[in-house]
Amino acid sequence: MTYARTRISKAVIPAAGLGTRFLPATKATPKEMLPVVDKPAIQYVVEEAVAANLSDVLMITGRNKRPLEDHFDRNYELESALTAKGDEARLARVQESSDLATMHYVRQGDPRGLGHAVLCAEPHVGDQPFAVLLGDDLIDPRDPLLGRMIEVQERHGGSVVALMEVDPSQIHLYGCAAIVPTAEEDVVRVTDLVEKPAPGEAPSAFAVIGRYVLDPSVFAVLSKTQPGRGGEIQLTDALRELAQEDGPDGPVHGVIFTGRRYDTGDRGDYLRAIVRLACERDDLGPDFRSWLRTYVREEMQD
Ligand code: UTP
Repeated sequence: MTYARTRISKAVIPAAGLGTRFLPATKATPKEMLPVVDKPAIQYVVEEAVAANLSDVLMITGRNKRPLEDHFDRNYELESALTAKGDEARLARVQESSDLATMHYVRQGDPRGLGHAVLCAEPHVGDQPFAVLLGDDLIDPRDPLLGRMIEVQERHGGSVVALMEVDPSQIHLYGCAAIVPTAEEDVVRVTDLVEKPAPGEAPSAFAVIGRYVLDPSVFAVLSKTQPGRGGEIQLTDALRELAQEDGPDGPVHGVIFTGRRYDTGDRGDYLRAIVRLACERDDLGPDFRSWLRTYVREEMQD
């Protein structure tokens, strides 16, 4: 007898990392709360989950969890001050984040790596496939990715990772996938994964980026996964095991992403995200672009 698969409805957002690349800004604030123009990075990520019909969001938080929880909660003081002023537009902006999704939180305790953060989601997720969105990885909303990954998972079962082709000189910064093509141009079968490969040891130039749709069997693998690179429990190591075994837990597929993506935990990418998104905004864009043009022209003259 076959059972209809339940539609994927849960998103897990790990946001408990130390954010050391962004110190001192991240000393008392999670890096996911850093603003990208006028919204914290994490709000873009929750909006992306909701856009893919995942309205049950579990955030994995760490020692500075308060700002994250507060951001997705009501702020009655601010709301009544804006109501009293009749400032409807800003009131709507304040209420946007608290009306987005059903938010849940679990604390990771010690940040023992992304794999460990995902393992903390097991009691909430249970035995259904689920999505993972890294809280510092921003995918441009005009280039939807997660919906396609969910659709691929629902057809093939198993797990699905997001892949992006990077310059081979940069692949040592990422998890890297060995892949074989499928009949669909943007879908590949992942046969092996290596976390931050040493120069010359990368099986391809396809980097794993921060979106996953995972089979719940990943939890059993993670609970046995030993600390790997950097002394951290790596999600890549657990997925490697699932990719290599041809077992009942299904294959690992990759969806190749060619859209716009920013790693907001990296200072350079963070700045690029702000400039690009600000330029494209209807309200800020015209003035900002004109200032930027003048600034760049002056810089070129030096
Ligand atoms: P990163 O490796 O980018 O996070 O993890 P980090 O350790 O905070 O960054 P740096 O290198 O020190 O600046 C990717 C994602 O996984 C989460 C992070 O919050 C980020 O969203 N993460 C990482 C956890 O939730 N827990 C961990 O133990 C590690």
